[in-house]
Amino acid sequence: MVNTTIMKKLIIENGPPLSGFVRVSGSKNAALPIMAASLAASGQIKIQNVPQLSDIFVMQSILDNLGADTSYNKIAEEMDILPNSALVTGSPKMELANRIRASFLVAGPLLSRFGQFKTALPGGCAIGTRPVDLHLKGFAALGADITLNQGYVEARADGLRGAEIYLDYPSVGATENLIMAAVLAEGITALGNCAMEPEVTDLCRFLITLGADISGIGTDTIIINGVKELVGGTYRIIPDRIEAGTFMTAACMKPGSDVTITNTENTHLRPVIAKLREMGANIIEPTPDSLRVYTTGRLNAVDVKTLPYPGFPTDMQAQLMALLAASTGRGVMTETVFENRYMHAAEMTRMGAQIKIDSRTAIIDGVTPLSGASVKATDLRAGAALVIAALGAKGTTEIIDIHHLERGYSGLDEKLRELGARVTTSVQ
Ligand code: UD1
Repeated sequence: MVNTTIMKKLIIENGPPLSGFVRVSGSKNAALPIMAASLAASGQIKIQNVPQLSDIFVMQSILDNLGADTSYNKIAEEMDILPNSALVTGSPKMELANRIRASFLVAGPLLSRFGQFKTALPGGCAIGTRPVDLHLKGFAALGADITLNQGYVEARADGLRGAEIYLDYPSVGATENLIMAAVLAEGITALGNCAMEPEVTDLCRFLITLGADISGIGTDTIIINGVKELVGGTYRIIPDRIEAGTFMTAACMKPGSDVTITNTENTHLRPVIAKLREMGANIIEPTPDSLRVYTTGRLNAVDVKTLPYPGFPTDMQAQLMALLAASTGRGVMTETVFENRYMHAAEMTRMGAQIKIDSRTAIIDGVTPLSGASVKATDLRAGAALVIAALGAKGTTEIIDIHHLERGYSGLDEKLRELGARVTTSVQ
């Protein structure tokens, strides 16, 4: 299932303003936990609107590796999963677990259904230390015995029991893992200070489709009343709000652009819409699931702070920094979610951007225009930010290591070309 990575690069030349329509794919960050959650069920599952991304195929390999039967239909963008009961004892291969942090999301469902799991401590984008202590504390509160050994975490429970758990921080992954662990536990689990991200809500709705009893969805307190079994079902994933936000930012980069983004869920994009409007972008909502973004001139700098939802998403921080790098005036960015998520700044500096970093704060002085250069995608959203910077830069930009981009954007080069951008992909 996992494609061998061929190192590729993107070449972006300065082109006309972007115009036309672009359709957003299904949400990667909703699809990954939902695929993992399927392990807690006993019936056939069909997940619709699953994007074609390398991270999704890694998760599919993990599920296969654990003994589930999976198949992905690329045309229909549907994933079928039969989590048969033979999958008790496996553990995801270290090589796969190291590739995506979301691999750790199999822990909750395995513990819930089989009373045990063993999995490697997770990898993923290099954007900070990203521990899993909150997940483990929660599993222990539900009655699991946890041991750490040689890079693996092992947990065993002789039947999980519902508990009151208050998260020290509203971690998205910990909230998801604990919901998945609690769905089959005996009794009631009250999870406080939960992450309220739309992807957490989507996971809850999926689990309810399979027979779970969950309330408080979308709030910071989620109540799970354990049920005996989860059955099969069909579920459609929400649109990817970060992909939508990335195209909105791309449209803002080039004055004169006029882009309509379809298959969106506009309510999930409020913090991004508000910030871009504050910068001077025109954003119209023709329907609740589409957005038209157009600009007539250079945007104005603003201050931005990343926060858990409904605050401004950390996964849009890099893309907004690219826009600030080419805006009028000085903007201050504060990254509060991850402690080391400014690696794109050094690459943007090669393109002439004026950025000073001090710990979690970045001060960005707008420069027009940025200049094309050879740069490197250091992680998924850093790569997206470099694409946006390149769209507004004079000359040609070469972005290497774009396999990072393929983790989270389906057909990005093609979608940009359809909007009129001069983008080509070639072997590195
Ligand atoms: C998810 C998203 C990621 C997004 C992030 C924040 C997926 C697959 N990934 O990642 O794209 O950037 O939410 O919106 O959905 N933390 C701890 N201990 C823990 C867990 C987390 O200290 O046990 C810290 C992390 O190091 C980080 C912060 O909490 O500083 C937020 O992490 P978390 O919300 O868990 O992010 P992920 O679920 O990994």
